[in-house]
Amino acid sequence: MPVQCPPIWKFFLVVTSCAGIGARYTPDWDSLDSRPLPTWYDEAKVGIFVHWGVFAVPGFGSEWFWWHWQGEPYANYVEFMKKNYPPGFTYPEFAHDFRAQFFDPDEWAELFEASGAKYVVLTSKHHEGFTTWGSPHSWNWNSVDTGPHRNLVEDLGVAIRNRSLHYGLYNSLYEWFHPLYLSDKQSGFKTQEFVSNKLLPELHDLVTRYKPDLIWSDGDWEAPASYWNSTQFLAWLYNDSPVKDTVVTNDRWGAGCSCKHGGYYNCEDKYTPGQLPKHKWEKCTSVDTFSWGYRRTMRLEELLDLPSIIQDLVRTVALGGNYLLNVGPTAEGTIPPVFEERLRGLGGWLKVNGEAVYASRPWRVQGENTTLPVWYTSKGSQVYAFLLALPSESWIKLAAPIASPITKVTLLGYTGLLSWIELQPSGLMVQLPLGPFFNGYGWTLRLDGVK
Ligand SMILES: *[C@@H]1O[C@H](CO)[C@@H](O)[C@H](O)[C@H]1NC(C)=O
Ligand SMILES: *[C@@H]1O[C@H](CO)[C@@H](O)[C@H](O)[C@H]1NC(C)=O
Ligand SMILES: *[C@@H]1O[C@H](CO)[C@@H](O)[C@H](O)[C@H]1NC(C)=O
Repeated sequence: MPVQCPPIWKFFLVVTSCAGIGARYTPDWDSLDSRPLPTWYDEAKVGIFVHWGVFAVPGFGSEWFWWHWQGEPYANYVEFMKKNYPPGFTYPEFAHDFRAQFFDPDEWAELFEASGAKYVVLTSKHHEGFTTWGSPHSWNWNSVDTGPHRNLVEDLGVAIRNRSLHYGLYNSLYEWFHPLYLSDKQSGFKTQEFVSNKLLPELHDLVTRYKPDLIWSDGDWEAPASYWNSTQFLAWLYNDSPVKDTVVTNDRWGAGCSCKHGGYYNCEDKYTPGQLPKHKWEKCTSVDTFSWGYRRTMRLEELLDLPSIIQDLVRTVALGGNYLLNVGPTAEGTIPPVFEERLRGLGGWLKVNGEAVYASRPWRVQGENTTLPVWYTSKGSQVYAFLLALPSESWIKLAAPIASPITKVTLLGYTGLLSWIELQPSGLMVQLPLGPFFNGYGWTLRLDGVK
């Protein structure tokens, strides 16, 4: 990726590189968007997203429970409350049952490490406004004053970093029912009481105390970035915060920012571009296809299976993206074993095939469908070809690579060279060692000496 300089530096400097050091950003998108993304992020490729909050207690519908019960009511949520809770019960009362009594941060960290992920992103505050650390700006609506009586952001962070994973924090800008937010909204976002008295002090506290490597911003869409003071916050984050050289951010900083401004782009949830985007991006998706938060009624057929996860990951990485896979822990602090199985399965596949994933770059050609679907990545002089389906014959055709006298074809996880035949004007036929060796999830060919 070319090193980009803030416009003002381009003006004064004749040197070719000013990556980070000394650069100062001004609170406008031209300047902020020119910041080079810290390199750890593109190399990491795989992350785990964790949606955890009071919504895990009802564990019904999705993490949008409060909204679908009382904001924009859905009949099934209203019915669920009517049937199971006394009249007058309020959402904040759920917090008493958010106990996290079985939460063992190192157990989670061990699982995330075993999944092959290089970063973890925890919800520090979802749209319900409950903070999973002891925010002094969220009186009695945080995990230290109520519920688990524990600082979840801090405790998970210690365990995650102990295993050398990067630690990111999700933060929702808006809060559905915060009185200051509602009154700002009433004013057509002409007042900024919520932003000045709640959001910004809280974000500064979060960054200063927990030094996140990534801020996954969300809940921005009702108001412009000028209401959220996003450019002022980001200028502080990139210039003067304790994480100025390492922090990565996404693109949800105000209505119209998504896919346009910020750090890397999420665009929309579960974004799946058809071809190589021009800007670094991330696909976030969830093992439970119906929800990000824990759902007690989830059924097996509603979950992504391991082959789908691997295919999705490979496609994402071939198209230059990072893959952020979500699990929703229970109110008791456990990760359901069905999620655990997916994550350990992914880690097993990455152990063999990770060489083609981590720190890879999109290749000249990202994919082809000649005799079977193939996705490509590259690293240095190597090209990797992912084969995600069992071919019907042992000889398969790759149309894009151009062979040379020094071409060598190997299979990750398999010792020995594979036979191949050069095709004209380009392409190779490669012979696969078929049979019980195929694991059902996909193979990766390593091609040396191809163009
Ligand atoms: C740090 O990780 C090691 C394993 O690498 C583990 O045994 C230890 O309990 C962890 N410590 C904390 C504080 O999580
Ligand atoms: C928000 O930004 C405006 C300038 O655009 C500034 O006057 C105001 O002080 C900022 N508010 C906070 C709380 O930083
Ligand atoms: C191959 O074709 C299938 C079906 O049209 C499509 O879903 C898949 O994305 C294609 N794969 C590649 C590598 O282009």
